Amino acid sequence: MISKCLSPVAGYGTRFLPATKSIPKEMLPVVDKPLIHYAVEEALDAGMVNNAFVTGRGKHAIADHFDISYELETEISGTGKEEKLIDIRKLLDNCTFAYTPQKEMKGLGHAVLAGKNMIGDQAFGVILADDLCITEPGEDSVMKQMADLYEEHQCSIIAIEEVPKENISSYGVIDAEMINDNLFRVNDMVEKPPADEAPSNLAVIGRYILTPDIFDLLSDTKPGAGGEIQLTDAIKEQAKNGKVLAYKFKGRRFDCGSVEGFVEATNYCYENIFKKR
Ligand code: G1P
Repeated sequence: MISKCLSPVAGYGTRFLPATKSIPKEMLPVVDKPLIHYAVEEALDAGMVNNAFVTGRGKHAIADHFDISYELETEISGTGKEEKLIDIRKLLDNCTFAYTPQKEMKGLGHAVLAGKNMIGDQAFGVILADDLCITEPGEDSVMKQMADLYEEHQCSIIAIEEVPKENISSYGVIDAEMINDNLFRVNDMVEKPPADEAPSNLAVIGRYILTPDIFDLLSDTKPGAGGEIQLTDAIKEQAKNGKVLAYKFKGRRFDCGSVEGFVEATNYCYENIFKKR
């Protein structure tokens, strides 16, 4: 059983300035919960109770969110407002939270490598909180779907979805053989290819299960697309040994790293989750 989940949260969130000037982008709320809260709930649903955050400067609000707030709790204790804290208490009661800084901003691969000592020598999940994944009520979260696949196949698993050609250059893109409708064996991957060089329309989204050999591979990974150390380039090395599966998950994913995706997620969650509580 995989017990740890890593979330890189060091990014500046410049697309949301000035909102993200003093608030981490992962703390932006979709309706009434911050993005990082959804990420931790999803990890918990998958049995990943130990959260490892790779942080940057000015991210204290994340640690405060996953901690008791005595004044607030005392103030609303015994009132009808107390039920508003049920969700966060569940996370505090069931999860642990560890933090380490990403000292330089050298890309997603560099961020994951910074989390090595928090993870140790075991397979782990990775959630990029700005890819918000929502499943139907009663359905497993995307990370749980992937954890179940890991139990069966014991290799790295990456989440994918089809994206239109005009957007493909924003993603890691796979070259893969189909195993069944939802599962592919990855042969090759490329980070942010020009649309006409993309090997497929299957884009990597921000959910991964990685075997711990990824850390040595990341240590050897040279800067790639955008001059950054790319996680895609290290996973591609695992794929050379046939050790990477790509999974077309059940559920909806919103790109909350963009203003349009964030607004879409907000409207969806308001109509389909908040109003139905
Ligand atoms: C990262 C990954 C990319 C992946 C994307 C999913 O890119 O590098 O492979 O497709 O997340 O959101 P970023 O969005 O951080 O540029």
